[in-house]
Amino acid sequence: MDELRFTLNGQPIAEAEAPPNTTLLNYLRQRRGLTGTKEGCAEGDCGACTVAVLDPDAAGGPAWRAVNSCLLLLPMLQGKQVVTVEALGSSGEPHPAQASMAKHLGSQCGYCTPGIVMSIFEACYRRDLDAPWKLDDQLCGNLCRCTGYRPIREAAEAVAGSCPVDRFQGEAAEATPVDMALAYARGGQRHMNPTTPEALWALLEAHPEARLVAGGTDLSLEITKQFKTLPLLISVEGVAGLRGVTAVEGGWRLGATTPLADIEAALGEAIPTLGRMLRFFGARQIKNRGTLGGNLCTASPIGDMPPALISLRAEAILGSRQGERRVPLEDFFVAYRKTALAPGEILSGVFVPELAGLNLRAAAYKVSKRQELDISTVSAGLAVELDDAGRVVDARLAFGGMAATPKRAASAEAALLGQPWTREAVEAAAQRLDADFAPLSDHRGSAWYRATVARNLLLGFYLETERTPRPHLPYRPTATVQIPTP
Ligand SMILES: Cc1cc2nc3c(=O)[nH]c(=O)nc-3n(C[C@H](O)[C@H](O)[C@H](O)COP(=O)(O)OP(=O)(O)OC[C@H]3O[C@@H](n4cnc5c(N)ncnc54)[C@H](O)[C@@H]3O)c2cc1C
Ligand code: FES
Ligand code: FES
Repeated sequence: MDELRFTLNGQPIAEAEAPPNTTLLNYLRQRRGLTGTKEGCAEGDCGACTVAVLDPDAAGGPAWRAVNSCLLLLPMLQGKQVVTVEALGSSGEPHPAQASMAKHLGSQCGYCTPGIVMSIFEACYRRDLDAPWKLDDQLCGNLCRCTGYRPIREAAEAVAGSCPVDRFQGEAAEATPVDMALAYARGGQRHMNPTTPEALWALLEAHPEARLVAGGTDLSLEITKQFKTLPLLISVEGVAGLRGVTAVEGGWRLGATTPLADIEAALGEAIPTLGRMLRFFGARQIKNRGTLGGNLCTASPIGDMPPALISLRAEAILGSRQGERRVPLEDFFVAYRKTALAPGEILSGVFVPELAGLNLRAAAYKVSKRQELDISTVSAGLAVELDDAGRVVDARLAFGGMAATPKRAASAEAALLGQPWTREAVEAAAQRLDADFAPLSDHRGSAWYRATVARNLLLGFYLETERTPRPHLPYRPTATVQIPTP
């Protein structure tokens, strides 16, 4: 069996002892003595454990990406480069991210500081932080309980996009594709990284009991929060041909292992429905690792991408040794947390049609207790197509958080068809949502609350798209107080 091989703070590592379920966070702190990286929550929610991993295939070119080390299993690093806060700079010669935090008084107790520095580290080398919301998005995965976010944001703003010419920039410039191939077994646990479809199909046939994993932002929680052992994982992350956003005839093919941050970068502007949903999806660290395929395959009733994609007529592309088949995305979710994948099949990608020529109104909404870094209570992807007379000829109203699966509102859609796109028609259709859904009450919201929110989202969609058929997200500053810069 292979060794784990990766580069940590510039040093090559060959690890043969750590069981494959070991998280990078535990490895850094317990095996390497790198205790600058902190544990807060062990579930991706606080950012204290943030490190940077060099991603040679990032949209826009090789880039350092801030990720949560508490959700990264060591075999996910095979062939990659990792940098922790210890390697950025020294007190005599700090990295610009560190110097900026000190200069802007961005730290008090300091517990959150290493993680925040690593998020600002990623920001330093990004060339696309061209709007205020992008800076909010960059930082929203890092919690601080004592400093207050204004100095931290100012520290980030001062250096974001500064692209320092240093060794990190050099390492990114020289990055070559990573070979993740690995068959690693220790302590009764195994982790396989096939890198070709052929190898993947063979492993799936040999080990039907194995669990698939991609970014691990969902699956790793079984290890860190439920304290389970996952004895056999097969990763799709390194399999050739599954990553990337490609323009194809009639639309786009979104590879299943494409990180959500890459989808946001590639299509957030072109398809505002996706851009709006991805803005409030997890946090930067989660989007840097979490994949589209992973989001859909959890089949969570409150997963954020399904309603948005269903409203856009997306199709799931299912792959196996026999080839590919496509199903409308709404049919991919067959029951609570169950998909249409057959044994030996994976989700290879998603086809999203180009709808630009249509007289279409489309938007997505996410309602959660917090604006940032929270799971949806109710979400919606809503789209209607009008004829020249302004009558509805197609309606696709998809909701999350309203049923056991992400689901279209058949009665409300039927009520809209043939109707003029008016407030009266929309209000009548909104009443029909009660026939479509019988939502549950839970700690995120009561059934009454969810039903009311769903009706209001449909009405809000009508009002919002009256003037702008496919609105981008309006920028609402996260800070409660905005201090104009002189
Ligand atoms: C702090 C935090 C915040 C989050 N916020 C959000 C949020 O705002 N909205 C939201 O919707 N989700 C959220 N999530 C959940 C999760 O991050 C997403 O669902 C993410 O997209 C999962 O992708 P992944 O690649 O990490 O999946 P993984 O954890 O690798 O896998 C998830 C599941 O999908 C299966 N799988 C993965 N890829 C494939 C494939 N190609 N074919 C077949 N099966 C596959 C795996 O077997 C596993 O069962 C959050 C999670 C955390 C920890
Ligand atoms: S320890 Fe909180 S995000 Fe990892
Ligand atoms: S400085 Fe104390 S938690 Fe941020």
